[in-house]
Amino acid sequence: MSMNNAEWINRGESVFVGTYSRFPAAMIRGDGCRLWDADGKEYLDFLAGIAVCSLGHCHPAVTRAVCEQAAKLMHVSNLFHTEPQIQLAELLTANSFADRVFMANSGAEANEAAIKLARIHSDEGRFEVISLSGSFHGRTLATVAATGQPKFHQGFEPLPSGFVHAGFGDPHKIEALITDKTCAVLCEPLQGESGVRPLDGAYLQAIRALCDKHGLLLIFDEVQTGIGRTGSLFAYQQLGVIPDIMTLAKALGNGLPIGAMLTRKEIAASLGVGTHASTFGGNPVAAAAGVAVLQTMLADGFFASLQGRSDYFVEQLQGVAARFPGLATGVRGRGMLLGLVLTERGIEHGADIVQQLFKKGLLINFAGMRVLRFIPPLIVSREEIDQCIEQVTSVLADIK
Ligand SMILES: Cc1ncc(COP(=O)(O)O)c(C=O)c1O
Repeated sequence: MSMNNAEWINRGESVFVGTYSRFPAAMIRGDGCRLWDADGKEYLDFLAGIAVCSLGHCHPAVTRAVCEQAAKLMHVSNLFHTEPQIQLAELLTANSFADRVFMANSGAEANEAAIKLARIHSDEGRFEVISLSGSFHGRTLATVAATGQPKFHQGFEPLPSGFVHAGFGDPHKIEALITDKTCAVLCEPLQGESGVRPLDGAYLQAIRALCDKHGLLLIFDEVQTGIGRTGSLFAYQQLGVIPDIMTLAKALGNGLPIGAMLTRKEIAASLGVGTHASTFGGNPVAAAAGVAVLQTMLADGFFASLQGRSDYFVEQLQGVAARFPGLATGVRGRGMLLGLVLTERGIEHGADIVQQLFKKGLLINFAGMRVLRFIPPLIVSREEIDQCIEQVTSVLADIK
């Protein structure tokens, strides 16, 4: 007998460690930009599994690739070569600055690999990584330490040493932290979790210049911005800056867990046999999903069409900000990683706005406690954008 939301939630809450504050719904099925819960309610999904299901739920090419691979070979470990993993690494290198890939299972793991590489590659035992305040790099101990938000550190001290955080927006603040121990600068080209904060091209170019001047590696965490999210396959491609190392995860498998660390051959050479590994990293089924994702996005017209819909979405959100100046100040972000920036008064209502939208069947979230974040599947249609705007408008209009 099928169970409803309340029954699933009761069962779940009696068995899980309570790390998550979940919406009161058990999701059963997805298709494109739509989800359905155990009560049969339909949702318009502008969260996409937190910027993961970029081709939409159950995209036919991905589902086909996963099913075919699962029927052929699911796992052999990295003691062997496998076809999908090689194809995926070839696609990633052919379409980026990089020519070497290490496969992981998540964003945090990809960042761990990047941090280990930066340390082992540096001369004279340099080990310190400079990241930015407001950044988010994951939940393992090293990536929590790299994350520039104290709320993620609390209760877990002492954190691994070798991580310092520079104030956001000013390259001099980074330069002031460079010592003879520094090996790398780590940053997201656009900070997603802390409130959709883009780093502009000039700022990133200044960071690149600092890295060159001081012999540091520049690591871009493109876990959230990568794989099409900001309107090009990788965010760095729009910014006139090329990193030395780039990390990916989230949308790479459209929902299957896979991460990757990309770099150039000369740098990769520092991670020799036995220095790093993962049992599951680049698992054949997850890698087959990744191949299908990249082939779909690299097809003609994908990014041109995305840009048109992104421009339309930005315009509509700007219209919302203009209509509710007491609640919203404007829009920021790129591609389909967009934020409606709230005023102080709007921020007080932010969490409630998200809950009201959930009740109306629209899924978004409140990023960094200051911005309503919209990260729909990249295939979202103009009609779906209109529906989203209609719901947001009606919820904001209800705030007295
Ligand atoms: C920029 C960035 N880096 C790293 C991570 C961590 O990824 P994961 O949750 O797959 O470990 C996230 C997740 O939100 C992220 O946005």
